[in-house]
Amino acid sequence: MDPNLAPRIIFYFTATGNSLYAARTLDAALAPLGAEPLLLSIPQVLKGERTLWQAEEIGLVAPVYRWDLPPLVQSFLERHRLQAPYRWAVLTCGHRPGAVVQRLWRRGQAQGQPWHYLATVEMVDNFLPRFDMEVERNLPRSVERDLAYHGQRLRERLEYRQEGARPPKGGPKGKGLYPLRAEEILTFNERCRACRLCQRLCPRGNFTFQDQKMGLGGECEYCLACIHNCPWGGLSLKGGEVNSGVRYRHPQVGLEEIVAANSQLPGIRPPL
Ligand SMILES: Cc1cc2nc3c(=O)[nH]c(=O)nc-3n(C[C@H](O)[C@H](O)[C@H](O)COP(=O)(O)O)c2cc1C
Ligand code: SF4
Ligand code: SF4
Repeated sequence: MDPNLAPRIIFYFTATGNSLYAARTLDAALAPLGAEPLLLSIPQVLKGERTLWQAEEIGLVAPVYRWDLPPLVQSFLERHRLQAPYRWAVLTCGHRPGAVVQRLWRRGQAQGQPWHYLATVEMVDNFLPRFDMEVERNLPRSVERDLAYHGQRLRERLEYRQEGARPPKGGPKGKGLYPLRAEEILTFNERCRACRLCQRLCPRGNFTFQDQKMGLGGECEYCLACIHNCPWGGLSLKGGEVNSGVRYRHPQVGLEEIVAANSQLPGIRPPL
């Protein structure tokens, strides 16, 4: 081991806590390997100037969005060099990860920065337009077992690339999810109390507060952090939801952790 290198850095992005929980759990499984780990939130890292990261081991934990990575994570990977002898990604998903692993693998090859271990872990699918969070919470899943399994294999520094599920017939069609504007998909409803929490936790800084009123607009990640984490149910999706009465955040992740990971308000500085 090079004594000048950080032993491990894990970059993560999370909107409803699944990926933060997974990052922490994997980190704990890996901890016996070395000293202090670093868990860095991508929306915070993107504020800083540093773009070269070197460690003995670099991990990425992020959700799958439409069989690919969220735009913020994609732009992070495009702009940053993650140099490590062992590079792994564990992506959290809901029902259908598609070919996300293959896409990420190809990107790594094209950048001359290959990934050594790529897998997905199925967790609650937080995509409100398609899924009912009440149902999702109660679906039998093997999250703990899967994370322990990948943690053990990462600890052994195995090489692995999960097979891709076939994309839906014909593959992704149309313009896809992006580009997308927050004002096109979201609206405040009568339950909004102008508490400004959504303003604190949007990773794109899409909320405003003026003359005692909330406003929203701007390029949107479709991460749904705002709508899921609003304590009052004060936001709705314009296109409708399967069950507008139930929201989701991972039970072991707190609201302030989501704020700290994503806030674009002044006050939270980029790490390092
Ligand atoms: C815009 C959007 C698109 C998504 N697309 C997929 C997908 O293609 N496949 C899948 O299995 N899950 C999909 N999901 C579900 C998330 O990947 C999953 O719930 C993830 O664990 C959320 O992570 P987080 O809690 O860290 O934000 C999507 C969620 C959102 C918000
Ligand atoms: S939408 Fe929710 S989080 Fe945002 S200001 Fe209204 S009550 Fe607060
Ligand atoms: S407006 Fe909501 S869905 Fe869009 S980026 Fe911000 S928190 Fe995510």
